[in-house]
Amino acid sequence: MTFDDQEHLERDPLIDQILISSAEIQRRVAELGREISVEYRETVPILVSILKGGVVFHADLMRRLSVLHEIDFLSVSSYEGGTQSTGVVKILKDLGNSITGRDVLLVEDIVDTGLTLQYLREILNARHPNSLKVCTLLNKVDARQVDVPLEYVGFDIPNEFVIGYGLDYDEKYRHLPFIGVMKG
Ligand code: IMP
Repeated sequence: MTFDDQEHLERDPLIDQILISSAEIQRRVAELGREISVEYRETVPILVSILKGGVVFHADLMRRLSVLHEIDFLSVSSYEGGTQSTGVVKILKDLGNSITGRDVLLVEDIVDTGLTLQYLREILNARHPNSLKVCTLLNKVDARQVDVPLEYVGFDIPNEFVIGYGLDYDEKYRHLPFIGVMKG
């Protein structure tokens, strides 16, 4: 655990514990970057990040890629400021460019019920990309309600509400350099 992680933990009484330290995240992101660079060595993929939660992971992951790539952003809302999935997903901001015929890698912060991802796969596949794969930093295996393929997973985590490294609780805590668990 780095000093920064510890400092955040001590400062905020609502953070219960660090689940994945910033050092562990950085190590894993580097590994994922190497694997993804091998897979996409003969193409120029588009890394599509899901705002806002996926943006921190996206920014770190792209700097670990050794292949040329483009980036784009999609904003969806599925939660209404709490910790419960509503299952309702709406597009707040669409992609800037066409993905038809392109190799798309969807970069997600977390797959929980899988409902958001299932919906996103449907709307993106309808635009006929050459390929559509998913890279998620976190995977809440036991919370899954629908079966969605995940090509790259950073960490499998228990079914707890987590914050940090892009993930929020009521729009806050995205800045934490680690993945933490809130006090219940
Ligand atoms: P799903 O549709 O249930 O898979 O949820 C996907 C979205 O819910 C993620 O992209 C997050 O924005 C949010 N989410 C799910 N679990 C958590 C969590 O533990 N902390 C913060 N946000 C979460």
